[in-house]
Order: sequence, then C-alpha cells, then structure tokens
Amino acid sequence: MLLLRRARGAVPPALQLLTAPTSTALLAARHSQCVLRSSGATRDMSSAGAGDSNERDSTSREGVDVLVDRSGLFHPPADPSPVVRPGDSPLESHLRSLIHFRGGPLTVAELVHEALTHPTHGYYMTRDVFGAAGDFVTSPEISQMFGELIGVWTASLWQQLGTPKKLCLVELGPGRGTLMADLLRFADSLPALRDALSVHFVEVSPALRRLQASALDCESTAAPIGTGRTRDGNVSVTWHADFGTVPDEEDTPIVVLAHEFFDALPVHQFQRTPDRGWVERLVDVTHSASDTAALRFVLSPGPTAASKMLVPQRLAAVPQAVAPTVQAMELCPKGMAIWQGIARRVATRRGGALAIDYGDEGPLAFTLQAIKQHAFCDDLLAGVGTADLSAHVDFGALRMAASQVPGVQCHGPVTQRHLLASLGIEHRLQALLASCTDERQSEALYAGALRLVGQEEAVRATGDAAVPAPPPGMGVRYKCMAMVNADLGPPVGFEALK
Ligand SMILES: C[S@@+](CC[C@H](N)C(=O)[O-])C[C@H]1O[C@@H](n2cnc3c(N)ncnc32)[C@H](O)[C@@H]1O
Repeated sequence: MLLLRRARGAVPPALQLLTAPTSTALLAARHSQCVLRSSGATRDMSSAGAGDSNERDSTSREGVDVLVDRSGLFHPPADPSPVVRPGDSPLESHLRSLIHFRGGPLTVAELVHEALTHPTHGYYMTRDVFGAAGDFVTSPEISQMFGELIGVWTASLWQQLGTPKKLCLVELGPGRGTLMADLLRFADSLPALRDALSVHFVEVSPALRRLQASALDCESTAAPIGTGRTRDGNVSVTWHADFGTVPDEEDTPIVVLAHEFFDALPVHQFQRTPDRGWVERLVDVTHSASDTAALRFVLSPGPTAASKMLVPQRLAAVPQAVAPTVQAMELCPKGMAIWQGIARRVATRRGGALAIDYGDEGPLAFTLQAIKQHAFCDDLLAGVGTADLSAHVDFGALRMAASQVPGVQCHGPVTQRHLLASLGIEHRLQALLASCTDERQSEALYAGALRLVGQEEAVRATGDAAVPAPPPGMGVRYKCMAMVNADLGPPVGFEALK
C-alpha cells in the first residue's frame, strides 16, 4: 500500500517529472471542481492464466483448401436434448447447441461475440460489470482527471481543426458513461466547444445505455435508450449500436474516443504448425457426457477462411526478419474494420480518433483473458458469459488498417503515462488539490493520479528480497494511439519524443 500524505496544493514527487506544454497545462488546470470516487482492481492484470491446455491436433485432409476436421469432434446424438447439461449456464447451453446444430466448432471470435454481446445472456448486456462490486475497474472510474484530460485532448484537437462550430464527438463502448460525464464537465469551461458538441455513444448493451444516460443526466433514462439531451439542455446525446449509423455531415468534423473498447471485440487466434502451416484455434464440445469441461479448444486441421485472409496480411506488415519467428497470432478483424471506418470518416470530414487500451505494437500471440470479481480465471471457457473476456490490442494491426485510407495518419502508440503527462495531469492535480477540503480527499486524488501514470503497481513493501518486483503499472501497460488528418500534424501528446 502506498503511504499517501499530500499537503493540499503540493505537487506529488512521483508526478514532478511530468510536464505539459503551457497552453495544455492551462486547459488542464482550468476546471477545478473536486468530486471523489472509489477505486478498485483494473482489468489489465499481467499474470493472466491463458487456459489453453485443451488443444488437440486433428488430421489434415488433402486437396481441400479451407476445412475444419470434424472427425474427432462432437458427434451430434439423434436426440438433441443431451446437448443441454445440468449446471450449464444459459450461455453455455446456447454455445453447445450452436456447435451441435451447425455440426462443428466455433471460431474463438464467435465465442467472444456470443459471450459478451448475446442479447439476453451476453456478459455486458444486462448488468453493471464495473467497480468494486463488479469484475474490474477502468481508468475513468479511478479518477475524474482521466475524463477531464481526455477533454483537454479533445479541446486541443478542436483548436487544431480551427474551432469548428459543430463537432461530432463519438465514444465507442462508454461503459458507465463516466469518461464523457467528466469530459463534458470540463467542456463547460470552454463554452464555444461545449456548444459545438453533439455526443454519440456506440453501445450494444441496453443496461449500460441506461447507466450512460444517467451519468450524463439525460432527460429520459427509460428503456430503450436512443436519444436524449443533457438535463441542462446543452448537449444532445444519441446512442448507436454501430459506428456506421453515426451521422456523417458535410460541415461537421468528428472526434472518436475509444477507451477499453477495442479489447472487448472478438479476436481470432492462429497458430503455426510444423506440418500444416497456419491453422486456427476453435472451440468445440467434449465427447464425454461425464466430462466436466463442456467446451474446449481444438485446432483446425488446415487453413480456415480467417487464417488464409488475415495471417498473410498481418505478416506482410511485419519486418521480413521477424515474420518467420511469429508462431502464434491473435487478430481482431472487427476492430480493424471499425478503425478503418473511422479513418474514412476522418479523411472526408476531418477530425481524429484516440484509442487507449492495453496492448502493444504486435503482432501479439494469445492474450485472450477472462476476469471475474477482480481475478483472472484459469479456464477461459469455464465461466463463459459470467466473466469478462478481453484481449490485448494489436496497435500495429490498427495502424495497418488505417494506412489503406489516404489522408490520415496514425501516431503512437505512446504510454498512458506519457499522454496524461503531456495533457497536464500534474497541473490538473495541483488545481484539484487546492480545492480539497480534507486530507482524505487529497489522498484519494493523489492515489488516483499515481495509479493512472504509475510505472509499477503499488504493492505492500515487505522487505523480503525473494518477493518478485511489482508488475508494471497502468501508466505503462496502457497505450494510446491517435489518428488525425495527415495535414494536421501530431495531436497533443503525440509530438515526436525528445
Ligand atoms: C471494457 S468496457 C469499457 C467501458 C468504458 N470505456 C470504460 O473504460 O470504463 C467495454 C465497453 O464496450 C461495450 N461494447 C462491447 N462490445 C461492443 C460492441 N461490439 N459494440 C458496441 N459496444 C460494445 C461494452 O458494453 C462496454 O460499454
């Protein structure tokens, strides 16, 4: 546990190296409302159990280009009732019947899609999964400074765009709506920006849409949530199931924010084999009715449609010397398609996008992880539908997708620590500390800031040399990638590192 004793107004030593350009710092310090929130475990925990021990090889069949070997897989019984087992969750039953009636395994992407967004049994669809009582905590929930500083980034881009009279502000996967609520509170200090904004949420979950409407104090929080207006009347809010329906208006530039959105999208997993080249990891059901593991991973016996399409594309963007060393790959075509769709919109309407997530340059091997009640699940398939599933983001793959659109440029990834420092977290913290009324508030603020930019997780000091070094903190685990019109130059936080 960190010992936090901050005098009000003092600059915490851990943040003193973080500097921001003067104009950004002024923006960051501008708004000084002080509202404190609780914190909890973050979703990105570095020692994930991959749960990948159930793979098995299948025999390949010659002369077939795209195939799935079903010979060793589940044989549907004449009576379909055994596919439903006592003790199965509704989603497990659904998945096993899907496999049963299609007569073959699902891709990992299909599994993730069903597990997270099935209309009635999907993980996100019916409940609030965030916070101490949920499964994980995200940066906007840790500190109000996060959303406010993303507001600073948005304001800076709006200025780079020439302060347009209208700005379409999109957030993908807004969760509880906390980031946008904090951003809009910041925007109140810049009325010209606030008056330009129309907010568009891309969200599949009816339950989370209700929370988002409530976070923004929208007029109606009754289902189904589709449109609203913040109760102060200042900003219109529209919900979409897909980025494609966000209005595309000639005189309206667009800014898209995606915090921990891309990690929630379905990934395909591929593995290089010595004899069959690249094959795909799939999800099958076990043979034996007495087997407790209802679902298991298998490998396709040869290339699949996805492996033939995606693997060569991704390897083509990897340095020649590195490509032959890549043994496993996880790719998210849905994320690549969405990032490219945003790139097309930015190219025609001007603007930019900011994606913040755990991940790396890529290509990444298997990172899919399951988290429940703030702990990793050993078996990815055991609690399907009741645990969060997420995968690290391959930022190189996103860049590759955007590079096919002329006129836009991706910048980064940079670390969250770097971005928040550039946006003036130190100055923002100072302003907030100055308005704190008690020590508890200032300690909570300081702890939140430290957690967002920390290079190491805060762990209890034991003095025991055998205790392993603390895992990397959110400040370096989380990466940020921006995309803007190529003629705009890098947005704040993405200038060339000195
Ligand atoms: C990990 S949460 C992140 C929430 C929020 N951005 C935060 O940081 O607190 C993922 C969010 O994306 C939404 N989501 C997941 N898959 C989606 C999809 N295919 N389309 C739209 N929203 C999706 C979830 O409902 C949820 O709001």
